[in-house]
Amino acid sequence: MQVHPIPLHFYAFLSALALVLCPARPDPDPLQDFCVALSAMHPLSYFPSINGAPCVNPNLVRTSHFATSALSNPGNPKSNSFGFDVTVTNTSNLPGINTMGLSMARVDIVPHGVVPPHSHPRASEVTVCLEGVIHVGFVDTSNRLFAQILRSGESFVFPKGLIHYMYNIDSTRPALSLSGLNSQNPGVQISSISNFVSEPQIPDDVLRKAFMITGQDIAKIRANLGG
Ligand SMILES: *[C@@H]1O[C@H](CO)[C@@H](O)[C@H](O)[C@H]1NC(C)=O
Repeated sequence: MQVHPIPLHFYAFLSALALVLCPARPDPDPLQDFCVALSAMHPLSYFPSINGAPCVNPNLVRTSHFATSALSNPGNPKSNSFGFDVTVTNTSNLPGINTMGLSMARVDIVPHGVVPPHSHPRASEVTVCLEGVIHVGFVDTSNRLFAQILRSGESFVFPKGLIHYMYNIDSTRPALSLSGLNSQNPGVQISSISNFVSEPQIPDDVLRKAFMITGQDIAKIRANLGG
């Protein structure tokens, strides 16, 4: 019997199919109504490989597990020289959010304060400006900037993983924005911090070449960023 080799384009077709059927996803869907997070301090909380926190026994779940006032109060945007603070919901202050693939963040920004360029490796973000006037923007992988000014009630989307920022363009009034993110643990990397004050540090030679700056420039930037 003659065995026909499988043509290459068949594999190409399979790969294309896999790409179409398996788009990049947010957190995996839960397999139960809810999985209220057991606190990391709980003696039962020893499952090392679970994606998220282990669940509270459903019989012990209370309404309060699904409620939080974590976002009621402003953060402390004067605590850093950028002039912003982000307060988040997570499985500690809102245990019912565990496995839901969701989180919220309130962003308080002082007059002329900035949330410096950063990215969330695990989530897209949609933000609604509640107070003040905020210049927002993100840069896509073709290096194009999409930027906009938001006033109260207006929203903007930052696609997953892309570098974005917020700037309170008002010199007199604080700004407040509320964001939803499609991960219970979006993660954040602030570009300047990651580049200049990681621990241990990226070698000076790398930064000199990458940013085309001198060793003195690097020292100055590190000092400015508290490194
Ligand atoms: C939730 O956020 C608080 C405040 O940022 C933080 O202290 C805590 O470690 C976080 N918990 C989890 C499970 O990420």
